[in-house]
Amino acid sequence: MNSLDNFLTNYELQGEALKIYTYPAKVLKQKAVEVTEFDENLSHLCKNMVYTMYQAPGIGLAAPQVGQSLRLFVADTTYEKKETTLPDKTIETTLEGLSPKVYINPRIISKSGEISYEEGCLSVPEIYENVTRAQKITVEYQSLTGEILQYEAENLEAVCIQHEIDHLEGIVFLDRLSLFKRNFFLKKLLKKKK
Ligand code: CO
Repeated sequence: MNSLDNFLTNYELQGEALKIYTYPAKVLKQKAVEVTEFDENLSHLCKNMVYTMYQAPGIGLAAPQVGQSLRLFVADTTYEKKETTLPDKTIETTLEGLSPKVYINPRIISKSGEISYEEGCLSVPEIYENVTRAQKITVEYQSLTGEILQYEAENLEAVCIQHEIDHLEGIVFLDRLSLFKRNFFLKKLLKKKK
């Protein structure tokens, strides 16, 4: 665990599952606006986003994905999903080692290296493809109280942060693929939607 003080202390898996918008919803293509009010509404939204992320389950969720065009996302790349078979043969799923983090008005201030990782997205269901991004990044962001913080991430966590910041720019991971691959997946996605 790191010393981020945006860590939601006394966190409990409670909240409201928000609707996740899927491609090609307009809100996913917009540049999101800066957060300026660090109030109750903001923490309420973040709490519900964390809940929605774990429900999905996913490792990151950006505000535009729940229909809010705001520059923030939540992420947790280290928790584990554990399935236990109960005596009556039903399977109980529990999530362990939760450490949700909230990044408000994030921006990448340095990056290095390269990593190719198979990405997916809750807003682009059932499509997974390799995307090349920076292997190590430093992100500057604000906490729920508006404090400016910096965090260095690498590998999966760095990939996740870059993917989520893309959402704030109106970019989904499909936009990072070659035109050929993007068209292929878009056709597949839109066909399924009909
Ligand atoms: Co996504």
